[in-house]
Order: sequence, then structure tokens, then C-alpha cells
Amino acid sequence: MSKLLFTVYLLTMAGIASGQGAYSKKEQMKQLIARQFEFADQQYKVLAKNVPADVMPKTYVAKNNKVETSDTKWWCSGFYPGSLLYIYEYTKDTAILKEAKKRLAILEKEKHYTGNHDLGFMMFCSFGNAYRITKNPIYKSTIDTAAASLITRYHPAAKVIQSWNSNKQWKGPVIIDNMMNLELLAWVTDQGGDPKYKEIAINHADATMKNHFRTDYSSYHVVDYDMNTGKVVKKGTAQGASNESAWSRGQGWALYGYTMMYRFTQKQSYLDLAKHIAKFILENPNMPADGIPYWDFNAPGIPNTYRDASAAAVIAAGLLELGQYVTKKEQTVYVTEAEKIITSLSSDAYRSKPGQNGGFLLMHSTGALPLKSEIDVPLTYADYYFLEALTRYKKWYL
Ligand code: GLY
Repeated sequence: MSKLLFTVYLLTMAGIASGQGAYSKKEQMKQLIARQFEFADQQYKVLAKNVPADVMPKTYVAKNNKVETSDTKWWCSGFYPGSLLYIYEYTKDTAILKEAKKRLAILEKEKHYTGNHDLGFMMFCSFGNAYRITKNPIYKSTIDTAAASLITRYHPAAKVIQSWNSNKQWKGPVIIDNMMNLELLAWVTDQGGDPKYKEIAINHADATMKNHFRTDYSSYHVVDYDMNTGKVVKKGTAQGASNESAWSRGQGWALYGYTMMYRFTQKQSYLDLAKHIAKFILENPNMPADGIPYWDFNAPGIPNTYRDASAAAVIAAGLLELGQYVTKKEQTVYVTEAEKIITSLSSDAYRSKPGQNGGFLLMHSTGALPLKSEIDVPLTYADYYFLEALTRYKKWYL
């Protein structure tokens, strides 16, 4: 090799070692994110046309070529306006903002809803983003009212917020999903609100940490409490494969939830738990190579069963935040995994072609397989957490 060629070789190797390889990965991600938002901007205009003005999109039924809708009390009613707001934040397309505002207007009345624990999903994914982006104080007042509604479900003896009302199967059910609703409460306190909201959120997270997790850091879906004493009556599932299985979206809610609660509290135990949950997910022998989990990590019939793109999107968004609170080495592991998930979700295997899929972005989510509901379909929250993961990646890692 000539001296000149050898010098070029050395410079190239040095470039790779000093992070030019990482630069090209960054550039790839930057372009991928730009393409997804460009697509989302157009695709959500298709979805908007498919959804009457007084309801929200829920899913798409391919065999009838019909978008199924819900009223604003459905737990997912905040995701569509929230997704529109993420799209607007990136594209600055005012037609998208207009559609978001239209949907916020029909959702606003649910700030008084107390029928279940889902107020955080409903009112913070929507109005939280609206306030973050526009700083309109009207949105803040809606969020404050929603927090007051949510804590009506708090039981001081058990120190938890009851997820669903008592029914034949459960006395005082608390589901792992409920961790997600705590963001609404902690945020209100941190914005100058009453400290009681954050105290309730911390009490709930502490009780859930104690009672929801197995020794391998997988989470039960439902823990049933005697709300008068705080005693755990039983543990089981409603949407998972079995009482002892690890329902995939539930593991995602847990990962995201404890990472988010660490953001608000800096409690080391929350960060430690989030890292253990991440390990359970990322090192799970049943996690497919493309990073999109089956609907339950213990689903019967793996690999011949359904995936859950929504769980993958929640996990990606959670890992990206977790990457903010750990060592550089750990961050690389979490961000690399999130990149893999985002890349898979952006591929033809999971992402719709323009104009198809009723206007939803992603295909192949599973809502509640044991209830025979929403199997292998698009779902509003898969799109929402996908867009959130793209937004987080751009904000923290580009
Ligand atoms: N929070 C309900 C679900 O994840 O299906």
C-alpha cells in the first residue's frame, strides 16, 4: 500500500472511531423522522375526512373499509388530538392545528369525567401537548380540572387510584396502565398547583412498585385491592394471555410510567425499577429480532401469533426518555433499541402506505386479544406513541 493510501485508510478508521459512523446514523434518523412526519401530515388528513365532527377515531376495519369511532369518554379520546399536535409541532401545518383544535373542543367537557382512571390519557396527551405547544392558559385550566376529577378515585387507606369501578371479577382493581395517568397529577403540582396531586401520584407509584411486580420485574396487569385496608386481594389479568403472563403493552406502560415518575421526583427507586423493566423487555427470549413484541411475552403459539405495534411504540418512547437519566453506555443500549423499533415501525411491514389503513399511520396492533377486541389493527395510541418517539428522538438525540 502506498504511503498516501495508507494515510487515507488511517484517517478513515479514525473518523469511524471518533463518531463519524454515529453521525451517519444520526443523519439517517433525521431523514427517517422527516419522512414519517411528512407522511403523517398527509395521512392524518385522510383520517380526518373519515371521522365525523363529534367523535374520535378508534380503529379501522379493513373488511368494511371503515374507520370505527368512539365518543369522547372512551379512554383513547386524547390520542387523536395529541397526534395532530405532534404532527403540527414538526410540520407547522396550520390545517393540522385547526383539526386538532376542533377535536380538543369536543373533548374539553371530559375534564369532569370520573368514570375511570383514564383522565391522564384522555386529557394530558391532548391538552398537555396543546398547552406545551401553544401556551394558551385555557388549556392549562382544563388540565387542572381534569386532575381534580382524577383524584376523586383515590383511596387514602390503600394509597392508590382505583382504575375501574368494582365489578363481579374485581373489588378494587388497579391496572399497570394507571402509571401513565400520574403524569397529569405530577405536572399540575409542578406547575404551581396543589402539592396533593403529586403526593397522590407518588403514593400510587410506590404501592404499584410494591404490589405489581414479580421477581423478574415483569408486571401483573391487574392488582385487586381491598380499598378500606390496602390489602391485596388477588393479582391477575384482563388483557394478557394468563394471570401469570407478561402482557406486552403493560410492560411498556410500566417502563414508560416509572421513567416519567423519575423525571418528576428523582427517586432512585423509580429509576432502578425502570432499568429492571427495560432489561426484562430487551433481553426477553420472546422478543422478536425487529423489536416489535408479540401481544404478550408469554402468548401461546409464539411465533405464530399477533404482534402489538402499540406496545413497541410505547417501549420506544419510554426507552428514549430513560436514555436521558443513565450512563452513556446504558444510553447507547436504550437508544439503539429505540432506533430499531422506530425503523421497524417506519418500514412497510408496519407502516401504512399513503391513503390506506383508513388514514392511520401504523398497522398490526392488538388491543385486547382475550376479549376478542381490536386484533391486528391500527390503533390511535400506536400512532400517538410512535409520533412521540419520533419527537423525543429529534429533541434529545439529533
Ligand atoms: N389502557 C388500556 C390498554 O392499554 O389497552
